Amino acid sequence: MGYKKRIAVLSGAGVSAESGLSTYRDNGGLWDKYDPMDVASDVAWKQNPGLVLEFYNRQREKLKAVRPNEAHRLLASLEDKYNVDIITQNVDNLHERAGSTRVLHLHGEVTKIRPENTCNEADAFSEQYVVDCGYERVVLGDLAPNGAQYRPHIVFFGEPVPKIEKAIDIFSAADIVLIVGTSLSVYPAAGLYRYASGRTPVYIIDPADVPARDPRIVHIRKKATEGMLEFCKMLEEE
Ligand code: APR
Repeated sequence: MGYKKRIAVLSGAGVSAESGLSTYRDNGGLWDKYDPMDVASDVAWKQNPGLVLEFYNRQREKLKAVRPNEAHRLLASLEDKYNVDIITQNVDNLHERAGSTRVLHLHGEVTKIRPENTCNEADAFSEQYVVDCGYERVVLGDLAPNGAQYRPHIVFFGEPVPKIEKAIDIFSAADIVLIVGTSLSVYPAAGLYRYASGRTPVYIIDPADVPARDPRIVHIRKKATEGMLEFCKMLEEE
């Protein structure tokens, strides 16, 4: 088995759009319906935890009803010939359900919860407190064994992104970078591709223009399912 080139993928809500999940900033997206500061921020959790819990209950309910799409599947199939790490901003589990084996959730996972008084600096964000809630509803009064209220295992706006260092290492070592389905509006995720070396090609799959100006960028201006087919063809021609 020869050396397998390393592909670092940054995915966003657009890769799950064709599965039927809303994106955040497209028209009709989640942030058209909700103010993220009311349902996905550290202040919101302190002021109105019930509303935050309800928002993520709704996301879990939607996730239960959808399946991975061809883009998720093509990403998983890349593992046959490449060393693939998927750094996703998505909190859904569609990459894993499509078969990807190395998925790093920068912004957390909607199918997981943790006691609200853990996973801070002291805990070094250890995963030991995290439990899988599947697609179940979580409400005020659902307490962890340590007596604390369960909260979504999501990185709220205003909170640190504990896995960013690992993500930077992955992008720094990449032979190929692929960005799919993200508006590149949220840092530090949006800056990850810049850690790849100057010689590393950067492919972007997105039907819309994205705010990235870099000579290395090849923009495949298509939806994720079609764009992934084109990307896989380009890899074969490499
Ligand atoms: N295929 C590919 N890309 C698509 C598709 C599709 N079918 N449909 C939409 N897109 C693109 C949009 O053009 C846009 O560039 O997906 C991107 C979605 O952008 P956002 O809605 O901003 O989602 P994302 O970039 O993942 O948001 C990043 O912001 O609110 C936070 O934590 C949240 O992880 C999220 C982060």
